[in-house]
Amino acid sequence: MVDGSSGNVSEMDVWQIVLLSALLAPGWAKLLAMGLNWVHGCPWPPIILWSTRKLNDVLVFLLPILHAAWLWNGGEITSPLWLLVATLSAIGSIVLIRDAWRYQFPVVPDWEVDKQVEIRTWPDGHPARQVGRGHGSKLARFPFNEQYSLSIVRREWVLDELPPDFGELTITHFSDAHFRGAVTRAWYEEVLQEAADFRSDLVVFTGDLLDDEHLLEWVPATFGRLHARLGCYFLLGNHDRPFDVAVIRQSLERLGWQDAAGRGVILHDGPRQIFLAGTEVPWMGEHPSQLSATKASLRVLLSHTPDNVEWSIEHGFDVVLAGHTHGGQIRLPILGPVYSPSRYGVRYSAGIFDVSGVKMHVSFGLSGREPLRINCRPEITQIVLRPRQTVPPSA
Ligand SMILES: [Fe+2]
Repeated sequence: MVDGSSGNVSEMDVWQIVLLSALLAPGWAKLLAMGLNWVHGCPWPPIILWSTRKLNDVLVFLLPILHAAWLWNGGEITSPLWLLVATLSAIGSIVLIRDAWRYQFPVVPDWEVDKQVEIRTWPDGHPARQVGRGHGSKLARFPFNEQYSLSIVRREWVLDELPPDFGELTITHFSDAHFRGAVTRAWYEEVLQEAADFRSDLVVFTGDLLDDEHLLEWVPATFGRLHARLGCYFLLGNHDRPFDVAVIRQSLERLGWQDAAGRGVILHDGPRQIFLAGTEVPWMGEHPSQLSATKASLRVLLSHTPDNVEWSIEHGFDVVLAGHTHGGQIRLPILGPVYSPSRYGVRYSAGIFDVSGVKMHVSFGLSGREPLRINCRPEITQIVLRPRQTVPPSA
């Protein structure tokens, strides 16, 4: 038993030690995940990213074991070392509870007035359901994996900043295709045909096209399906960076897609102007610099990562469309996502956010380096933008 007067736990029985270690473990795991998320939101070399992931995987299990072993060998719960590790666990637990609360009770901004979600699945035997060869094919067969289904989402936003005569603008947004092989071309063809069927005014893709450059040959049959009155614009992401990005960009441009990275363009659409810019920072290029010469009534930033939202606020954007975080890919019951490669952790793993007046949509993406998604379906989205104040119909 615990000697309460001295704090000596040398007499703690094994179950007390196991219970105390188990109580402290989630807080440590959360702190480790926060560190891992922060590192993976930065442009570190792949070896650093790989090493931190492996270190995280080891420490998640090792810390509780070390803690239990230390107590078993006479460690005292009044010692400065134990108070330090317990305090760290408490901090992690508080953040864990905060993030779980945000996951359970997300704030829906008043500018989103409608959201419709249709779930698409494909029957057994359909080519889109088949698992291809290569990395991830075993994971792809994991029970409850939602990788081979699709959320078709339609969101309606009313924006105070749009002039009453702006009318309606539709944008198709999807992200993070991650061509790698286990998810077959047939699935992407089905999904991007659904995206094409939105028939939006503008189509945008916010990066991470592939993890296997040989699959660039899939682009015409997939991205080639999409066309839009105001254009199709793309970014690349951190997973595209190891390959010849010039070749990747050219393959999309040959299909009529336009590269939005590091630049801004004014889309003239009748009497209205829309400013569209893109950034692949921190992995490639620079933020766009042509930001001032515009009278646009709507300013949209495409960003691979949601971490550029602060930059978008500083430069007067109205809307940010981002990807990269994949919704966390695995969303635990009650707790929600744990891993999300962002300096903000799981805060912007997916969904809509009002960040100091900027309206941000972070896509769940289509796949990932690992084709495993639990409670985290791939997503394509159409966003319908309208002014809050509209011109009254003439009598
Ligand atoms: Fe990605």
